[in-house]
Amino acid sequence: MKQEIATEEEMYNFAKSVLLNLESRNIIFLYGDLGSGKTTFTKGLAKHLCIKETVTSPTFVLCKEYNIENSKFSKLVHFDLYRLEKEQDALDIGILEYVDNRNNLVVVEWPEILDKSFFDSFNNSIFRIYIKHGENNFRCVEYENNN
Ligand SMILES: Nc1ncnc2c1ncn2[C@@H]1O[C@H](COP(=O)(O)OP(=O)(O)O)[C@@H](O)[C@H]1O
Ligand SMILES: [Mg+2]
Repeated sequence: MKQEIATEEEMYNFAKSVLLNLESRNIIFLYGDLGSGKTTFTKGLAKHLCIKETVTSPTFVLCKEYNIENSKFSKLVHFDLYRLEKEQDALDIGILEYVDNRNNLVVVEWPEILDKSFFDSFNNSIFRIYIKHGENNFRCVEYENNN
């Protein structure tokens, strides 16, 4: 599926539609260049999950957790793997334990370093989204509708 996003507000609405279409999946992979809107999408998720804390980019801390009330998920866990070099680095910060707990909604920016060992176990739990930066505020998002 492909969708045009014209404003930040529309990205927030797109995040809501993804939440409603996760079904049994608890992992969202966000692919896209710097500034394409991965963190903005995650802020949209947080808004619809009624998280009051401000979601900021975890580029330097690698991972941030936010508690969720009244949802099938009890935590939003936001990873940014941009600064890591290899899958093992992500395993070292505990990504497997986070995704293995289905009470966690795990969002991963820059998932490209993850590899076979990750996909062998979690492929069916991943909702992948590809964001492309157009002119000005335009973005194009592509995703798989279903498993
Ligand atoms: N349609 C849009 N969707 C998402 N972000 C947008 C859009 N239009 C403008 N922006 C702005 O673009 C920037 C995207 O940055 P960010 O979400 O941090 O990107 P990334 O995490 O992919 O590096 C933000 O400043 C956001 O306000
Ligand atoms: Mg980001």
